[in-house]
Amino acid sequence: MVALYNPAIEQFPFTKTSCNTSTLFPAIPLIDLSKPDAKTLMIKACEDFGFFKVINHGVPLEFISRLEAEAVKFFSLPLSEKEQAGPPCPFGYGNKSIGPNGDLGRVEYLLFTANQDSNLQRFVYPLGKNPEKFRAALNDYVSAVKKMACEILELMADGLKIQQRDVFSKLLMDEQSDSVFRLNHYPPCPDIQALNNTIGFGEHTDPQIISALRSNNTSGLQISLRDGRWISVPPDQNSFFINVGDSLQVLTNGRFKSVWHRVLANSLKSRVSMIYFGGPPLREKIAPLPSLMEGHEQSLYKEFTWFEYKKSAYSSRLADNRLIHFEKIVAS
Ligand code: OGA
Ligand code: NI
Repeated sequence: MVALYNPAIEQFPFTKTSCNTSTLFPAIPLIDLSKPDAKTLMIKACEDFGFFKVINHGVPLEFISRLEAEAVKFFSLPLSEKEQAGPPCPFGYGNKSIGPNGDLGRVEYLLFTANQDSNLQRFVYPLGKNPEKFRAALNDYVSAVKKMACEILELMADGLKIQQRDVFSKLLMDEQSDSVFRLNHYPPCPDIQALNNTIGFGEHTDPQIISALRSNNTSGLQISLRDGRWISVPPDQNSFFINVGDSLQVLTNGRFKSVWHRVLANSLKSRVSMIYFGGPPLREKIAPLPSLMEGHEQSLYKEFTWFEYKKSAYSSRLADNRLIHFEKIVAS
């Protein structure tokens, strides 16, 4: 069962959106970055959902449509041409296979490094017929989305009353930030019979600090509520959807929770999504910020670096809880 969406009553917090008379679902939190209450609502959204939608985000719509057009052009190429940009190890073109451990989805994708010094230019694979145009669109888009992600992280730090406003955003701004950018294409699934159990992208949490997702107007994305129910996220091509990643969960000592999400296949239309995953440098220690530890609050996590986390995640399946290996056993 999925939630119907009623934009007219899309409010936060906790407006109930009615699906039928017996079931109520909360609406997706909506944050208007131009409003003074953005930071307060954002904190609540990160605590309650690990997820929210952003409007007035400042990313030029022209950058978005230009990159979408390039992505559509690339994904429309014959498979043999696209495969020249793969396999993803870890960057490049991938089809159906997600990660190194056997996860499959009805999706094809392009994965890029998004850290500053690589400037996306070093992507050595052939990128369609006009790679320079594609690269220019990628660079414009990723720079603008990274700026938005940093602004959001600074509002979060403010909202958490942390003195150092850039405590999270500096990790993305670091020259060695291990950030990633992903273009996903979900082809339509016209076989209605198969549709029922066809997964586009299986359930998972994103490992980095923050993910900023933009998609075209095709539905498919779902998030899991804290009680385990899945709700559909109505697509909105002019907005961004923000995920709390595992690293931000640890940095806030579990106050923010990373969000479980997945994509279901759509019968009629293809879905194109573009996701910026803001990550820390590999050497960075991921540990709860001391300023967030009130009184005698203990860290819920063992100390680890982003490199160690990635190494451990490498042998995991998509749906695994990757943080479990880093949780402390709390004596009761
Ligand atoms: C991802 C993801 C959702 C989508 O790539 O991590 O969650 O809509 N994608 O493509
Ligand atoms: Ni994801």
